[in-house]
Amino acid sequence: MSHDQLPTERPAVVTCGLPYANGNLHVGHLRTYVDGDLFSRALKRAGQNTAFVCGSDMHGTPVAVNAAKEGVDPKEFALRHHEQYIERFEQFNIAFDNYGHTHDETNTELTQSFVESWIENDHIHEKEIEVAWDAEEEQPLPDRYVEGTCPYCGEHARGDECDDGCQRHLEPGEIENPVSTVTGNPAEYRKQPHKFLKLADFQSYLQGFLNRLEGTDNARNQPREWIEGELEDLCITRDMDWGIDYPGESEEDLVLYVWVDAPIEYVSSTKQYSERVGTDTYDWEQVWKIGGESQHGTEWNDEWTDKSGEIIHIIGRDIIQHHCVFWPAMLRGAGYNEPRGVLATGFVGIDGKALSTSRNRAIWAEEYLDAGFHPDLFRYYIATGSDLENDIDFSWDRFAERVNGELVGNLGNFCYRALLFAQRNYGGTPDAETSEEITAEIENALEQFREALREYDIRAIGNIAVELAAVGNEYIQRNEPWNLVDDQPEKAAQVIRDCVQLSKACAILMQPVMPGKAEALWTSLGETGAVVETTLGDALETPPTEFAEPTELFSKVESEHVESLNEELRERVEAAEQDSTAGEGEDSEADSTDVDLEPLEEERISFEEFQGVDMRVGEILDAEPIEGADKLLKLDVDLGVETRQVVAGLRELHEVDSLPGTRVIVLANMEKAELFGHESNGMVLAAGEEADLLTTHEDAPLGTRVK
Ligand code: 2FM
Ligand code: ZN
Repeated sequence: MSHDQLPTERPAVVTCGLPYANGNLHVGHLRTYVDGDLFSRALKRAGQNTAFVCGSDMHGTPVAVNAAKEGVDPKEFALRHHEQYIERFEQFNIAFDNYGHTHDETNTELTQSFVESWIENDHIHEKEIEVAWDAEEEQPLPDRYVEGTCPYCGEHARGDECDDGCQRHLEPGEIENPVSTVTGNPAEYRKQPHKFLKLADFQSYLQGFLNRLEGTDNARNQPREWIEGELEDLCITRDMDWGIDYPGESEEDLVLYVWVDAPIEYVSSTKQYSERVGTDTYDWEQVWKIGGESQHGTEWNDEWTDKSGEIIHIIGRDIIQHHCVFWPAMLRGAGYNEPRGVLATGFVGIDGKALSTSRNRAIWAEEYLDAGFHPDLFRYYIATGSDLENDIDFSWDRFAERVNGELVGNLGNFCYRALLFAQRNYGGTPDAETSEEITAEIENALEQFREALREYDIRAIGNIAVELAAVGNEYIQRNEPWNLVDDQPEKAAQVIRDCVQLSKACAILMQPVMPGKAEALWTSLGETGAVVETTLGDALETPPTEFAEPTELFSKVESEHVESLNEELRERVEAAEQDSTAGEGEDSEADSTDVDLEPLEEERISFEEFQGVDMRVGEILDAEPIEGADKLLKLDVDLGVETRQVVAGLRELHEVDSLPGTRVIVLANMEKAELFGHESNGMVLAAGEEADLLTTHEDAPLGTRVK
């Protein structure tokens, strides 16, 4: 059964993945919050009663480990970061209707009531499992206290997540070659009883849920593979002090796994909002429960689909499994409503490479603001830089290029010249009717906005005002009102009236992506009140007859500024590299390349053996990310004699769009392999950690053998 189209008459909640309260925010984190804020503002604009909620994720090893490094109490540590996030979100115009945290009373109570519900409905059982143990420190090693190899993809992984590879959740005891992050010793295993949520109870429900789920394709498709075959139990307890207690007296030394109380904060935060504004304005139970009530059982009744509110989660693509498998099962197990949409965003890279906080290749939220840029410029860049599912590269060069071209040169330029001309010649909006042509353009833009909202197309919503301004620029250029004022005053007035109307429509349409700049434009238009109070329909209302001379909306990003920001980043990355190689012993100091080089192979191969290695000159024709594999790209490589499909681990190390056209060397007689369901027929050769691609210096024809 499909849902009613958005906006609906029912209340909606838009949430963003909770940030762990354990560090500083960078541009990679901000992507989800900018997209969430844009989407909730757009829903409100279209008339849907919407709460935009989130909170800080206070528990679990991500917080405990970092607090221990600082030698402080985890609660104090997490609260400090929580306060900092509140400030940071405000600075980026990310306006949550409620921002709570997982350690507060509302969430503690609600989390325990969820668990009690699962117990009552027989979805919990206890079993003894092997948990990692550090013998030297005599302590258990839950989650981030242990690292090792992912059993699914072979990449380096943390105790509960394959963060470097396939992004899958790992259950306690699953990780291979476990090493304690406390002492660096190989971990031992100890038996311990734990509580489990029986995910298998929800297997058929989850299949139906994924069929109903809206949002991005990755959120629907990746989990299908994970729910094939019998679903494993989810361990919901941890042997730690920091967290929410498992309810019931006998379990007092176990706390709940952080991924239990974290998503429940979505509900708690909505509840807090509801309590603040009153249930007549917004009733959290109408959203989260079914027709306002809990409905137990493991299956879904299609009649419930349009009885409750709309739940829309915006998350990073690394936490799809938590939101599209565990979370719907947790909700169903407690008789709650299910998410209507999950939008899973791609990552943010820096200068064509993966963002890496350990290498200091990151742009921090604070650093962006310190550079003196308005937050809306970043919001625009990030919301419209790629389709939601795809990765975005952030570079100061590209930032300057887009701001100067799209915002200064197009949107800002159009509104400024239109309003300046109107003010100087008419003192405000001229007394004329909006033409049919421009009325149709505005109506079309409004329809595009509604359509993009229905399609969850955040990029398209972010682009609409800039596209409308391009229409305006073309229109003003074509009609040259400056040449009409004297000879055809009526025509001049009508053209300028159109341009002022277009500017007003731009202010209304740009508000979700650039709320601060939209208010500034609104003020320039002489409008009273705030643009945030308007709805889409107001775009065709008559603008004020009088307004003051406008101010420019955007200013150019100067190339010297970009150079100095690039330089700062370069120095920072280099310093981090040096730090990581410093102290590696005398040998590394003597090594001028600062790279940990392997000794040369002692074993020689014969010329005949080398002749068996078929290396060819090739050219990459096409490069495409592989869903669910953060490091891999599927390449089509022209080898002169034929075109081969090769899967290569280049995704985080090279900008995908820059690869087509690159000449490479391919090991053509490499054994075929299948990676993430894609055949790899050859191997692209590259040097070092950063995958420096081997190529030729001259123009040997494609297919030429390397000898
Ligand atoms: O991965 C993370 O950063 C988690 N803190 C996200 C939690 S989202 C939610 F479900 F709780
Ligand atoms: Zn993996």
